[in-house]
Amino acid sequence: MNKKKYFKPGLKVLLSILVLLIVAVVIGVLYINSTFLNFEKDYAEDDVHIQKISVDGKTILDRNGNGKLDVYEDDRQSIEARANDLSSQMTIEEKIHLLKGSGMKSGLSMGDPKKGIPGAVGTIVPTPRLGIPTVYLSDGPAGLRIEPIRENDNKTYYCTAFPIATLLASSWNTDLVKNVGEAMGNEALEYGIDVILAPGVNIHRNPLCGRNFEYYSEDPVLTGNMGAAIVNGIESNGVGTSIKHFVANNQETNRFNNDVRISERALREIYLKGFEIIIKKSQPWSIMSSYNLVNGTYTSENKYLLTNVLRDDWGFEGIVMTDWFGGNDAPAQISAGNDLLEPGTKRQWKALEKAYENEELSEESIDTAVKRILKLILNSKKMQDYAYDNNPDLKGHALIARQAAAEGMVLLKNQNTLPLSNVKNVAMIGVTSYDFIAGGTGSGDVNEAYTVSLEEGLKNIGFEINKTAKDAFEAFKKANSEAFEKPEGMKSMFTPYTPPEMNYSDELLKQCAASTDIAIITIGRNSGEGGDRVEKDDFLLSNNETEMIDKTCTAFHALGKKVVVVLNIGGVIETNSWKEMPDAILLAWQGGQESGNAVADILSGKVNPSGKLPMTFPIHLKDHASTKNFPLVGTKMSITDMLFGNKQKPKEEQIKNIDYTVYEEGIYIGYRYFDKNKTDVAYPFGYGLSYTDFKYSNMETVVLNDTINIKLSVSNVGNLAGKDVVQVYVSKPDTKIDRPVKELKAFAKSLLIEPGDTVEMTFRIPSSELAYWNEDNSTWTLEKGSYTIQLASSSRDIRLSTEIDI
Ligand code: BGC
Repeated sequence: MNKKKYFKPGLKVLLSILVLLIVAVVIGVLYINSTFLNFEKDYAEDDVHIQKISVDGKTILDRNGNGKLDVYEDDRQSIEARANDLSSQMTIEEKIHLLKGSGMKSGLSMGDPKKGIPGAVGTIVPTPRLGIPTVYLSDGPAGLRIEPIRENDNKTYYCTAFPIATLLASSWNTDLVKNVGEAMGNEALEYGIDVILAPGVNIHRNPLCGRNFEYYSEDPVLTGNMGAAIVNGIESNGVGTSIKHFVANNQETNRFNNDVRISERALREIYLKGFEIIIKKSQPWSIMSSYNLVNGTYTSENKYLLTNVLRDDWGFEGIVMTDWFGGNDAPAQISAGNDLLEPGTKRQWKALEKAYENEELSEESIDTAVKRILKLILNSKKMQDYAYDNNPDLKGHALIARQAAAEGMVLLKNQNTLPLSNVKNVAMIGVTSYDFIAGGTGSGDVNEAYTVSLEEGLKNIGFEINKTAKDAFEAFKKANSEAFEKPEGMKSMFTPYTPPEMNYSDELLKQCAASTDIAIITIGRNSGEGGDRVEKDDFLLSNNETEMIDKTCTAFHALGKKVVVVLNIGGVIETNSWKEMPDAILLAWQGGQESGNAVADILSGKVNPSGKLPMTFPIHLKDHASTKNFPLVGTKMSITDMLFGNKQKPKEEQIKNIDYTVYEEGIYIGYRYFDKNKTDVAYPFGYGLSYTDFKYSNMETVVLNDTINIKLSVSNVGNLAGKDVVQVYVSKPDTKIDRPVKELKAFAKSLLIEPGDTVEMTFRIPSSELAYWNEDNSTWTLEKGSYTIQLASSSRDIRLSTEIDI
């Protein structure tokens, strides 16, 4: 055989493949660069030097350099007049340019750090000819997310990781949440960010949604009030929010193209309601449309949602921006009322220009969107030339994070165990005890300087950490070092860090029990953007975890010692099969960077727990009506899904729960379903224990001028000072329609009540809030007649009730 001959064609083929590969890579890089990264050169801000001029003794910036004071330059004029003037000076090219962001360069920290804000995930582009600056947008719900380290810069730019939204909702304390918002907003202000992409206010439709940790609750009234509180807090700094994801973005599986098939009633009463409350109570600067479709139309192209509901019905005055790369038809998005396309691509820019030229996109639609965007820009600190100092009060904010974290943790069980007394040495069981999880992954994550683990938190207040348990953990970690490497950079966005759990032998646990006062087991869970959770080993404990609880309880109880389970989780897990075993269970959620200190505050009794569940803990996953129509497979998204455009599959290829999801359960989400169906639950909505007891009395209810006024006395009848949450549920016993058994209509958290003291709490509910969405005529309809008002400590613990007539 002629070896040479045989070899030659092989080499040629290889070389050709190599050349083709190189060409493909070069084309790919050029495409990505020109479409997603560098397409703004003609609008570079570099050469803009705005002169100051003096008019009537006032120094103003002559933004367009015409030597005189224009209406838009004059901050004594109304925003409306200024936006109109500015818009009238813009060319149509400049207007179209404004409708999309500048791409991913900023978000990927690829720009010059001296010119932008590394890690700011989006921008509203500048109009240099008129002296209009870039406006910066950045995540997210648990605190600001920017790049903490900059090239050639010794300074760091860390932000505070506050507790996840679910924990904040568990506090049921709107003042506290507003306070968190003030601190978050201040970090945006001082780091030069104009809009925080938060809060996330989607409803917990099913426990498996991977982003539930970013959202508040299964109930729209709790969601709406929490959302309004944080928006008011953030925006009190003069920076904006973008509440998200509008609407019905309740699963991550195929999030870019999932079609939500839903009734108008479920939309209005459940999924839109939280947004409606926020718009009415806080008028946020912006709102982010979601990725999914609703009844066949991408939300970002859905005129009914973005114009009829949001603006005409609710009076929203801000801008709508897309979620990152959301939707697929740029001109249709603008026409529907989605003013800004983020992060913006060259492709979208071209599509808008073409549609305008072809008269498929009207000048009127462009003008409407442009004026809304200009108002936001004019309101921003950038336009006021605010000199941000890059030095927010991180120490002060850490204290707020700690206080908020402790207030939102929920005590699920306590058999004469907590607060800890006569405990000096603590055996920490489970890897998460040493490696606490501050928050979930993805855009809801924060680049914080540190996270206090439970181990550190306990040490900080003087507990000793049991050496036998700690050595076992260290040895396990060493033997599995790869699994303990935290994902970095882009990988960390979409890969939740979940190190394996230890396998404890009976012998080891016996040794621990003999050498300590108490066991604290931590169960950890992590999830995030781009993927939903699954039932096995996630909603359910793994065999390893169940055994760990079982064996620890056996070893410790044999010596008369107690076991506490701490749940460091971002979403609901199964508890019913094992909750009888330990002596106490504390749902610590993911409490941000101060988590460990906050748990220690509760375990030690420094803080009396006052959190209540913002969702139900069911016995089984299948108990939720929504589980029948929820993806259970946990398929993760790939990054290419995000970049190369969205498209629904043809009808015949569509797969249930992936390409479309039928919200067959309608309004019956969470407790609304469990109550209606009389299903037992592990822990009901609104449930949470305290180290003291409260008694309710003196309920008074008066209906006056279409408002229900309710009053009651709350007495602390225990031995420790504590705060209580009173929940007001309303039922319509003789309803003519299909309605939930009861619905939360108001709630409030008391201030700290000393033992023996009584406080009065009051509520005002407009009677219009008792209406249901009537699909026959597409309006809210108020049934006349009698309603039951119930004052409760949880959705299954009604303490006082009375009838009223409407
Ligand atoms: C998320 C948004 C986020 C945006 C910018 C998207 O993937 O869905 O919540 O604000 O990215 O980071």
